[in-house]
Amino acid sequence: MESIRYSARRFAQVLGMTPQELARAESSHALELEHAGMPVPAPGKPALYGVADLAAARTQLGKLPARRLMRRQLFLNFKGGTGKTSVSTSYAFRLAEMGHRVLVIDLDSQGHASKCLGVAGEESTATLFDAIIKKQPLKEVIVPTGMPGLDLVPSNLSMSTIDLSLMPLAAREFRLRNALKEVENQYDYVVLDAPPSFGLLNLNALMAANDLFVPVLADFLSFHGLKLLFETVQSLEEDLEHVLDHIFIVINAYNATYKIAKEAREALEKHYPDFLLKQVIRQCTKFAQSSSEGIPIFAYDSESKGAEDIQSVLDEVVGRIGEPVKLKLA
Ligand SMILES: Nc1ncnc2c1ncn2[C@@H]1O[C@H](COP(=O)(O)OP(=O)(O)OP(=O)(O)O)[C@@H](O)[C@H]1O
Ligand SMILES: [Mg+2]
Repeated sequence: MESIRYSARRFAQVLGMTPQELARAESSHALELEHAGMPVPAPGKPALYGVADLAAARTQLGKLPARRLMRRQLFLNFKGGTGKTSVSTSYAFRLAEMGHRVLVIDLDSQGHASKCLGVAGEESTATLFDAIIKKQPLKEVIVPTGMPGLDLVPSNLSMSTIDLSLMPLAAREFRLRNALKEVENQYDYVVLDAPPSFGLLNLNALMAANDLFVPVLADFLSFHGLKLLFETVQSLEEDLEHVLDHIFIVINAYNATYKIAKEAREALEKHYPDFLLKQVIRQCTKFAQSSSEGIPIFAYDSESKGAEDIQSVLDEVVGRIGEPVKLKLA
């Protein structure tokens, strides 16, 4: 994340200013940035900015968003490869870029969310396993990502036996929800990236979640997979008395030139009108490129279709869950 560079234009845009306003703030010393680690610009060329500058600018200019009660948002689909990791990590990064305090929890032993955020999960000494099985304080498991405001509970292969280890434990469905209580004053959003499986860990994630995001591909296998997911959510309500606030189905990797994709979208609109987001995420090759570099798509190419669409998804979701209660700025 430290390698992320913002042009003056993009930096101003992220802060909700014009480039002229940014330049004025800097020349009037209302804004004093170190441009730490940035190359000295050639004469006549504008300076570059890094993620540390972004955090400093928000504080100095009083551009921090209102704090909200910690909102736990789970990205889950039992089907693999639907974009849970690509979408959840980009969404989380964008929230942090907007000044929110965000914790990403990588629930998948593949450690892909960790990788997408530039953290090598296999080198992490502790994962969620230590927090919910061994009861190590969650705070000790959290690592910074290098992006101010964006922290991570990393994952690696040691997570692969977590379902078995949860089995004999007391309150085995509630371990994650309970562990999160420890950090509830520290974050505005917790974004959980689930593996494509059904087991006790994902049940824990569902029990901990306020909102469920279900990335789907516009094909009929995804459509059938949803039925199983909704049955699970329903049994959760009946047997464990946990009701989710919102379920958002989001069509990912959409290509309107495919007839099958349009048909699948129509079927989703017909059967899940209350849950389907209007905004779709279009097919975009930049996702693969950005994740291979461990840089979220907003920083890799903020003008890509993927970044644009995730921003629109975020706007639609905020419209549905409501703006944060206006607490005093931290
Ligand atoms: N909108 C998109 N357009 C094009 N490719 C995409 C898009 N979203 C995701 N991908 C690609 O699809 C593949 C699967 O994405 P991703 O790993 O995010 O899915 P996942 O649901 O997390 O997978 P898993 O079930 O294995 O955890 C990746 O190669 C990713 O780069
Ligand atoms: Mg994944």
